[in-house]
Amino acid sequence: MKILKGEIISNEKYGPDVYKMEVFSPYIVKNALPGQFLMVRCSSEDILDPLLRRPISIFNTEESFKVFSLLYLVKGRGTEFLSGLKKGDALDFVGPLGKECKLDYGTDVNNVLIGGGIGIAPLYMIAKQLMKKGCRGTFIAGFRDSPYYGFDKDMIDLGISHQIYCEKDLSRNIGLATDYLRDHIAEMDNSSVYCCGPKPMLAKIQDILKDQDIKVIGLLEEVMACGIGVCKGCAVKVKEKEGFGYKNVCSEGPSFDLKEVLF
Ligand code: FES
Repeated sequence: MKILKGEIISNEKYGPDVYKMEVFSPYIVKNALPGQFLMVRCSSEDILDPLLRRPISIFNTEESFKVFSLLYLVKGRGTEFLSGLKKGDALDFVGPLGKECKLDYGTDVNNVLIGGGIGIAPLYMIAKQLMKKGCRGTFIAGFRDSPYYGFDKDMIDLGISHQIYCEKDLSRNIGLATDYLRDHIAEMDNSSVYCCGPKPMLAKIQDILKDQDIKVIGLLEEVMACGIGVCKGCAVKVKEKEGFGYKNVCSEGPSFDLKEVLF
């Protein structure tokens, strides 16, 4: 983990209120592992407002160009600042942070990746790694109003089958990403599920799969102040042998056995 600066190669719209930023950084490309994130500074050098860095998942790394990318949703002053950065500007970030999401590379395993909205971001690196190892997988994405423009192309480039669920776009499956699980539960023997998205979505996945012998990894998103396990601001409640305890999403996650998380 290092404090770094990288030159922004592009910063373009990827969906409604969602941007994809590409940044040159040989260090991140060499060291980033699936599931990890960066703490990104969201203010200029002379102004410390907003003061806190924002946690943003690493979406992809491209070895040949030494470029990594981030997907981020513009929803406050920090991410508005990021959306205003241009090609050639410098991005200030700390990382890679968090633990690697451990993947099951069994070629007979049916991997199902389920992302809700911006929750697709950390799943891309996981899908890429699984495809690289010759594993089977399906990427399910749920979007509220309309799909992110760049998503179909990214899935085709990756060579993974994908389905989009949308609450309003009639050209897609109408409904929620979790509907996929309800409709395919009978075919999910020997499956591993990786999911990221809003808490109600994760709680629903947990409920649908609670009695199934299926490994479910949830990548949790929390507001973070330090990103390195010091402030305890990102703690989540998890089951323990006797009762429950707390774990830091930043330093002990963000990947957790979803069946152990108490919402
Ligand atoms: Fe400080 Fe996780 S953000 S402990």
